[in-house]
Amino acid sequence: MSKSKFISSSLLILTISILASGAAVAGESMADINVANGETIFNEGKGDAAACQGCHGEKALGNDDMGAPRLANIGLAYIVKQLTDFAADRRVPDGAGSAMNGFAKALSEQDRRDVAGFLYSLDYQVDPSDLKGLAANGNKVGKPELGEIIVTQGITGKVPPCQDCHGFNGRAPRFPAINQQKFVYLVNQLNNWRSDSRANDPTVDNVGIMRRIAKFLSDDDIANIAAFLSTAPRVSPGGDTKKK
Ligand code: HEC
Ligand code: HEC
Repeated sequence: MSKSKFISSSLLILTISILASGAAVAGESMADINVANGETIFNEGKGDAAACQGCHGEKALGNDDMGAPRLANIGLAYIVKQLTDFAADRRVPDGAGSAMNGFAKALSEQDRRDVAGFLYSLDYQVDPSDLKGLAANGNKVGKPELGEIIVTQGITGKVPPCQDCHGFNGRAPRFPAINQQKFVYLVNQLNNWRSDSRANDPTVDNVGIMRRIAKFLSDDDIANIAAFLSTAPRVSPGGDTKKK
């Protein structure tokens, strides 16, 4: 294994097993979650937190016009972590997402868990991004077939295959689902990690996992990956369609 390799295979396996082990994060289980409270917050908002569906869509499948991500079924512990990080200003988006810090602060810790639980309880549905429409509106849309190569095989010597950590449907508790995520949101996040403006990802050897990966991605790579993932099939290459 050459030293220049982004992350040795053994380190990658160690990382995956640490992050995928429930023991490494505060356990999230549906048991003590009030899904009905989460549903009310999602649909109607609460106090200074605006109704989530206004930007994330009625079915929580995201909205490319706003750069808002799909929230449905992307991961229970993952959503709780992001809302906690917004509340603590560890993740500070710009644009329409800059409202997230105030919304997360307006919710109690239990409210945040309840809304995450509601999102996780939804039936799995997909709403792929309209790549042709996005390209017609001036977005740089890449080639899905080139993005698929990076997602399934990585970039030799630089980037491990995305699916090794994420699967296609996410891997609880730490790795969110990235297939069927919205195109604009995917592009924004990969750019944000590359520029360190999103810096709340877990670290290995003091370097953020996603920040390190994004540094190796060109604009073309990002456009290709987002084109593939936002329209990728729901099924993992291993054939796993189960919700994790
Ligand atoms: C004004 C529009 C708007 C509203 C209302 C809104 N959001 Fe968001 N939200 C966004 C945008 C845009 C982003 C993407 C931020 C970024 O680019 O980093 C986001 C990001 C998120 C994320 C991060 C998801 C991920 O995959 O990492 C979560 C979780 C989230 N919002 C939950 C909520 C909840 C819960 C509510 C309701 C209490 C809500 N949002 C209301 C616009 C909104
Ligand atoms: C070594 C494991 C690992 C690999 C390999 C990996 N990721 Fe990640 N990724 C993570 C972790 C952990 C997070 C959660 C970050 C957080 O908690 O804030 C994440 C988060 C993400 C998110 C955020 C999703 C959201 O809803 O905001 C995207 C997008 C993403 N990764 C894309 C990719 C892409 C594209 C690749 C391949 C080029 C990749 N990842 C490879 C570990 C990995």
